[in-house]
Amino acid sequence: MPSPQPDRPDHYFTADPGAASSPATVELILSEGRLVTLATDAGVFSGDRVDPGTRALLADGPPVTEGGVLVDVGCGYGPITVALALRGGPDATVWAVDVNERARDLCRANADANGVGGQVRVVAPDEVPEDLVVDQVWSNPPIRVGKAALHDLLRRWLDALRSPGGQAALVVHKHLGADSLERWLGAEGWPTERLASRAGYRVLAVAAATSTRPSTASSNSPTNDPEPSA
Ligand SMILES: C[S@@+](CC[C@H](N)C(=O)[O-])C[C@H]1O[C@@H](n2cnc3c(N)ncnc32)[C@H](O)[C@@H]1O
Repeated sequence: MPSPQPDRPDHYFTADPGAASSPATVELILSEGRLVTLATDAGVFSGDRVDPGTRALLADGPPVTEGGVLVDVGCGYGPITVALALRGGPDATVWAVDVNERARDLCRANADANGVGGQVRVVAPDEVPEDLVVDQVWSNPPIRVGKAALHDLLRRWLDALRSPGGQAALVVHKHLGADSLERWLGAEGWPTERLASRAGYRVLAVAAATSTRPSTASSNSPTNDPEPSA
């Protein structure tokens, strides 16, 4: 099942989650055999284990652009960020973006602890340079922010992709609207391919738009969607 994304006042996608600190560590084994140890805490997404969607994304996502400008949208405590920095090599830059301050602090510490702190810039959304152009966007996105906010977030980042050649890798569970999101991305002008489906997690590769995208698509399209979210 997808990790719960609870809807309560101190939920993990607020700037200050409020939950009492309860430090822990989790382990992630990357498909190339590397063991990554990560510090986590209460008040961040999936603080008790590496989320299975995140594991699916890292196992089935596209090759990381070596030496590229990469972004992890909604970095949490940093499992994707650290993997991207390791895979992208010493010349890669990873922008790790999250609204949750505790998650950002953990992500920074985890990048340092895994030897990639020099390549990683952990920032709040409003600290990202507006003109940043990125080779790859990676995200296990915050579905629970709601469809309109999710679409706005994806638009902001997919429009930052280098064109042509830029690419995004996203993971969304089928029960959280993966298939409608895939259709929405295509309708908005981003060619989208399903790379894999693992235990219900769809791993999507999204190409940068090569021409002007349709301007009429609303943030809530498509309509009549039986799925709950994305
Ligand atoms: C599904 S979690 C994934 C976290 C982490 N990447 C992982 O794999 O464990 C989504 C993350 O998006 C963050 N988030 C929510 N709204 C955001 C926004 N507008 N911009 C950036 N991050 C956001 C949440 O705080 C949360 O950490």
